[in-house]
Amino acid sequence: MKNILITGGAGYLGSVLCTDLINLGFKVTVIDKLDFKKDSLAHLYSKENFEFIKGDVRNKKLINKLLKNKDYIIPLAALVGAPLCIKKPKETIEVNLKSIIFLISKLKRNQKIIFATTNSGYGIGEKNKFCDENSELKPISLYGRTKVDAEKLVLKNKNSISFRLATVFGFSYRMRTDLLVNNLVELAYKKRKLEIFEPHFRRNYIHVKDVSRAFIFAINNFSKMKNNIFNVGLSSANLTKIQLAKKIKKHIKDTKIKILKNKKDPDKRDYFVSNKKIEKMGFKTKYDLERGIKELFNLYKNGYTKLKNNY
Ligand SMILES: NC(=O)c1ccc[n+]([C@@H]2O[C@H](COP(=O)([O-])OP(=O)(O)OC[C@H]3O[C@@H](n4cnc5c(N)ncnc54)[C@H](O)[C@@H]3O)[C@@H](O)[C@H]2O)c1
Repeated sequence: MKNILITGGAGYLGSVLCTDLINLGFKVTVIDKLDFKKDSLAHLYSKENFEFIKGDVRNKKLINKLLKNKDYIIPLAALVGAPLCIKKPKETIEVNLKSIIFLISKLKRNQKIIFATTNSGYGIGEKNKFCDENSELKPISLYGRTKVDAEKLVLKNKNSISFRLATVFGFSYRMRTDLLVNNLVELAYKKRKLEIFEPHFRRNYIHVKDVSRAFIFAINNFSKMKNNIFNVGLSSANLTKIQLAKKIKKHIKDTKIKILKNKKDPDKRDYFVSNKKIEKMGFKTKYDLERGIKELFNLYKNGYTKLKNNY
């Protein structure tokens, strides 16, 4: 079975992906310094095909050792989101960029890398744009810039795939409620009120389980997908913020939606995203927005409150 190294595997995306890979019988090694939830992978500790190393991706000796015998490397370790990166600029550059430079320099010719970045730089300043993988990314935050620079370096390697992810939603063993859908459902549940600014800004969304499925799809179809960038999002969910709020209101009916006219969104995204390229490869999403909203509503309703976010 394939041997996979996942950095940052205890995080929001990683903990779901590791669980799915282990259940499929892949051999998975995770290195994570457990900045957030300490037990997000505890349910895998008893599995024979799982190994967890608490460590830092900036530790070159350790990374060198962990790269041995790995078929696939999925580098997820990063400082994620603009607010966290503003607080820790030095660490952001070290982890999001320099650790990737080191990792790539140590890869053997047959080792494959699947990278995850954000599609959030698309569409900035170009209203109503329909973006595909050839559209220019214009990151406005340190977070976005480090991810764009890292992607360029990753793609110089011939055995690489880069996923540009839409805004992810849904439950994870390491939950994040700073992500837009997760956040709005939590607010609707707790306050029965959604205050939306710049309501017509469009975004694209994807369920965390579908992100995990996309990585597994890439592992299984690597030779035909390699040396490419793919947008990964739900084509049925290119929605404005107000459309999203209304979908949430359908589930939590007594939610009041208020438009804040004078507040500006620092995140200037306003775009449709085309996910046709990965769909043409045969990838199909399985979890729509309604299913995610229902799942999140159940999560908050049943008392899931001990969350540590990235801000
Ligand atoms: N969640 C999203 O919406 C989204 C969208 C686009 C791209 N991504 C990318 O996916 C990846 C994972 O994001 P996430 O949402 O799971 O974030 P997350 O914050 O939940 O996970 C990041 C993990 O990396 C670990 N980490 C950070 N610095 C480390 C270091 N120096 N050494 C070892 N581990 C370290 C943290 O402990 C954490 O578990 C990131 O690279 C991010 O840029 C996420």
